[in-house]
Amino acid sequence: MQKFIIMGGNRLSGEITLQGSKNSSLPIMAAALLAEGECVLKSCPLLTDVYSASRILNCLGCRCRLSSGNAIIDASDVSAFEIPKELMREMRSSIMFMGAILGRMGECIISIPGGCELGPRPIDMHLAALKKMGVDISDNGGIIHCRIPSGRANGAKISLSFPSVGTTENIILCAVTAEGETIINNAAREPEICDLCRFLRACGAEIKGDGESRIIINGVKKLHGCEYTIMPDRIAGATYLAMTAATGGEMILKNACIAEMEPFISVFEQTGCGIYAADNKIYIRKGARLRAIKDRIRTMPHPGFPTDAQAVLMSALIKADGTSVFEENIFDCRYRHTDALIKMGADIQVMGKIAVIRGVKKLHGADIEATDLRGGAAMAVAALSAEGTTHLGNISHIDRGYEKFENIVSSLGGRIQRE
Ligand code: EPU
Repeated sequence: MQKFIIMGGNRLSGEITLQGSKNSSLPIMAAALLAEGECVLKSCPLLTDVYSASRILNCLGCRCRLSSGNAIIDASDVSAFEIPKELMREMRSSIMFMGAILGRMGECIISIPGGCELGPRPIDMHLAALKKMGVDISDNGGIIHCRIPSGRANGAKISLSFPSVGTTENIILCAVTAEGETIINNAAREPEICDLCRFLRACGAEIKGDGESRIIINGVKKLHGCEYTIMPDRIAGATYLAMTAATGGEMILKNACIAEMEPFISVFEQTGCGIYAADNKIYIRKGARLRAIKDRIRTMPHPGFPTDAQAVLMSALIKADGTSVFEENIFDCRYRHTDALIKMGADIQVMGKIAVIRGVKKLHGADIEATDLRGGAAMAVAALSAEGTTHLGNISHIDRGYEKFENIVSSLGGRIQRE
């Protein structure tokens, strides 16, 4: 198992270009299955989750090639509708293929997806929504067989009890080639949903209302290929801002999605950082000690503060002046990184969905293990601002979401080595 050796204490400084979004790329790769023709996805990050999606596409009979930031997918000859258990287990986003395979083939066989352990992550909402669209579903010891008797799903009016990102994406993927109109009420409004819809429209789909709570999809018979550029990764962006703030550094983040990163810009302003955004660039600078955030940081569905940036922001606030309070409202178990941060000298108290961070003067290096993707990135942020050396194990979690992580950190002057 690989690990990072991080020697903390250097102020990060320089400029970097933000990678394409993981959480856009994965559903868009699944969506390419619906297109009868070649799709060229530009700015697709090379990550282990993207390699997993590519393996799924190839095993379904598509041709998927990944090279220098592009994914080229030709789904003209899709021939299979079953995803083997081992591939399903590699990541949570394997579930996105359910809606897409159904939309293309009318039948699919899948099993429970893997992914970060953040508490229970059921797929009940996905299944209930697809049933409403005329999909027959049977579960035989964890093997889920979905079949549309007529071969083509029907449009439906679906009201979600919670704006689940994955469920919204799966409904869209099944609905774009369904018969008639589908309306999703209380849909997720995350920017990655809009990115998926922009891609699908470029392939000929008819979708309105993405980015709002009510999405309307008019099913079309076929989709065609297209060339599309994936949006920048706002969570990776938040991670590099957090790293720079935590080390008292200075950075220009290029290829930033400023509007989508607004929640982070305002939070880092409150910590006393100089932060300016214009022309797809964000500049951040912090010399003296950060200030704690006065208001409770509540993770919420978009446009609220994203749960995916909770851990990295927490790491930036460990040495802030004063007390910051987090409230995690999306996942039941998303403070698993805090034990490692405490081992490094942080003063953090977790009580259910609340975490209280009392600023300390310094952190020290430690032997720690990444618990999940964003938790692992948060540990790296803390390690870069700590005195001494940190051995951070289990970094396969980080490789799932950050492209060339150590190269980027090194280019900013951080001392990090993969071993
Ligand atoms: N939920 C259910 N039943 C369902 C689906 C979801 O109870 O059928 C619950 C979940 O258990 C969770 C909540 O609803 O408590 C939110 O889940 P959601 O479906 O919105 O999340 P997701 O689609 O599984 C995506 C991102 C996550 C991100 C969340 C929330 C991808 C590949 N994953 O997950 O990203 O945290 O939305 O914004 O897009 C990450 O990148 O590190 C990551 C975990």
